[in-house]
Amino acid sequence: MYELGRIRQSLGSDWKAFENILKAALDSPYTLLSNIDSYLLDKPGKQLRPVLALCAARICGTPGPLSHAVAAVAEMIHTASLLHDDVADNADTRRGTLSVQKQYGPRASILTGDYWFARAFVTLLQYQGAFLVPLYADAIQALSEGEMLQLEKSRTLDLSFKDYYTICKNKTASLFLTAMVSGALSVPRPADPSAYRLVFEKAAYHMGMAFQIRDDMMDYQPSVNEGKPYYKDIAESKITLPLLGALSNSGDSEYRPRVVAWIRRLEQGDSKALDQIVEFVDRYRGLEFAGGVLHHHQLLAREQLSRLPGSPWQEALLKIAGT
Ligand code: FPP
Ligand code: MG
Repeated sequence: MYELGRIRQSLGSDWKAFENILKAALDSPYTLLSNIDSYLLDKPGKQLRPVLALCAARICGTPGPLSHAVAAVAEMIHTASLLHDDVADNADTRRGTLSVQKQYGPRASILTGDYWFARAFVTLLQYQGAFLVPLYADAIQALSEGEMLQLEKSRTLDLSFKDYYTICKNKTASLFLTAMVSGALSVPRPADPSAYRLVFEKAAYHMGMAFQIRDDMMDYQPSVNEGKPYYKDIAESKITLPLLGALSNSGDSEYRPRVVAWIRRLEQGDSKALDQIVEFVDRYRGLEFAGGVLHHHQLLAREQLSRLPGSPWQEALLKIAGT
């Protein structure tokens, strides 16, 4: 995906230093905790947020120890949020294998999330990153608010476009933004940090929105969803952009009560209701609608990134932003 492996490799010694900090930060004398940490580090996933932090750092100068630390901190907070999210969603799998909550139980998953979360802040302070604490605190508040709004709307099913975009911004774009901005600010003697900050903020916002929309689209695309389980969002009563787009294309008011009734039936275990929802998304071209919004965010992300000075790291971010 996005040539991320190649970008990680080209980050060379900065990537190694990030990995070392991550590993050291999670070293624990407690057997269960240590086993779960190893389980997680064995399947690291895309590690997109550290890539964003280190690319931003390289664009602003020469990354230092704090740059490597913020890459680890962003990854630890992301992983902590997933450890909690998988309990909230009762998810069986994560990164193509059993989720921690399935393998070790929900209590262990929540507590490990708490631990990674705490270790993230200890690491930030250890590397003289106290000035970045407000940025990370804001991101965590946004993550929690995004998840809570999503939970509320999965109960009421009255999700609007505004709600959906707020959820994406909070639960995904917020940490993209913090990773990139903290990466930029982590560099000793950064080149023109205030000029770049706004560019990073805007680019990260659009990249985060695009990433979440793409993820939500893949949930309706069993053939292209890279081994992830599909139709999971709607099974959790989460209305996402493909369904919202189909509703909009259908005129919404006539169909919303039908869609709500299908979701309620699905909650009761009626699998025919799932077929009806999938067929509705197909008939009213929900994926095409979502694809249009995805493309819009990708273009705006690229437009922002093109304001940065040309370098392999700007190129890397442009690749991640997609087309
Ligand atoms: C995955 O979304 C979840 C998130 C991006 C954020 C989760 C945030 C929290 C649980 C609250 C904050 C908690 C801490 C400890 C910071 P998804 O369910 O749409 O994606 P998925 O299909 O990968 O699960
Ligand atoms: Mg989830």
